[in-house]
Amino acid sequence: MVEIRTVGVIGAGQMGAGIAQVSAQAGFDVILSDIDLPRAEKGRSGIARQLVKAVEKGKLAQEDADAAMARIRAVGEVAPLGEAQLVIEAATEREEIKRAIFGNVGPLLAADAILATNTSSIPITRLAQAAPDAARFVGVHFFNPVPVMELIELIRGLGTAPETVAAVEGYATALGKQVVHAFDAPGFVVNRILVPMLNEACFVLGEGIATVEDIDKGVKLGLNHPMGPLTLADFVGLDTLLEICKVLQDTTGDPKYRPAPLLTKYVEAGWYGRKSGRGFYDYSGPEPVPSR
Ligand code: CAA
Repeated sequence: MVEIRTVGVIGAGQMGAGIAQVSAQAGFDVILSDIDLPRAEKGRSGIARQLVKAVEKGKLAQEDADAAMARIRAVGEVAPLGEAQLVIEAATEREEIKRAIFGNVGPLLAADAILATNTSSIPITRLAQAAPDAARFVGVHFFNPVPVMELIELIRGLGTAPETVAAVEGYATALGKQVVHAFDAPGFVVNRILVPMLNEACFVLGEGIATVEDIDKGVKLGLNHPMGPLTLADFVGLDTLLEICKVLQDTTGDPKYRPAPLLTKYVEAGWYGRKSGRGFYDYSGPEPVPSR
C-alpha cells in the first residue's frame, strides 16, 4: 500500500484551501495548485489568515502554525503534482472541468499514486474513466468548513481497489476526521439527504409560504440545526447546489430532484450566495440581510 507523505490539492478555493490546511496541520507536505500562481497563492494566504486566528485564540502554537505554512507550496502548474502520493481534485463542480484536469494530471502521477476527487455528487465510476487507473481512483468528500467539520465520506467506484480505500482512510484518520463509507450512488450519503432539503427550502420560499428569515428560523430552532437551510444553501454556494440537483436528477431520472425555479433564477442572476456577496441573503453590510 502506498505511503502518503505528500498530498497534492487541485483547486485553491474554499474546499481546496481547507483540505490543504488540515493536511499541512496533520504533518503532510502539501502542493496546492490552481490554474495560475496568483490563485494558488491567494488560497495559501487564506490558510495563513485562518492559522493566525487560531494562534490568537490560543488554539494553536505559533511554531505549529509556522510549520504548517512551511509545508504548503502554492503552484500555478500541474507538473509538481507528480511528487504527490495522493492528489485530491477540489475544482469546480463541473464534470468536463474535472475530466480535463484528470487528463492533464493523470500522466504525471507515479505508478502507485492515488487520484481522488472531492466531488459532491458526480458518479465516481464515471469520473474514473478519465483517470489513469480506476483501481487507484476514489471519492473523498470533505465538508465545509473543512477545518471544523469532522466527516469525510469515502466513496468507492466500481473499480476502486480496497488498498486505495485503505490508504485514503489512513490519511483521513491522520487528519483527525471520522469516515463513513459509501458505494458510488448519486449524492452518496450526505448530499442525497441534504440537497433535497435545501432545494425544498427554495421551493417553500418561491411559493411564498414563509419569509427567508422564518424558513431559517423554523428549521434552526425546530430541528436544532446550526444553520437554517437558506443560510446553509448560501454557504454551500447556490451554483454548487444547483449543479448537485441537476446531477441527482440526470443520474436517477427521478423528478423529485428537480431544482426549484427560484434556485435556478438566483444562479442565473449571479447570486451564488456568500462567495458572490449575495444569495438568499445580502452580505454587503456588517450583518447578512435577506435579499428579498
Ligand atoms: N474555517 C475554519 N474555522 C471556522 C470557519 C472556517 N471557515 N468558520 C467557523 N470556524 C470555526 C470558528 O473559528 C469557531 O471556532 P472556535 O470554536 O474554535 O472559536 C467555530 O468554527 C464556530 O464558529 P462561529 O462561532 O463563528 O460560528 P458558529 O458557532 O455558527 O459555527 C459553523 C459556524 C461551524 C459553520 C456552524 O454554523 C455549522 O456547523 N454550520 C453547518 C455547516 C454545514 O452543514 N456544513 C456542511 C455543508 S454541506 C457540504 O459541505 C457538502 C457538500 O458537498 C455541499
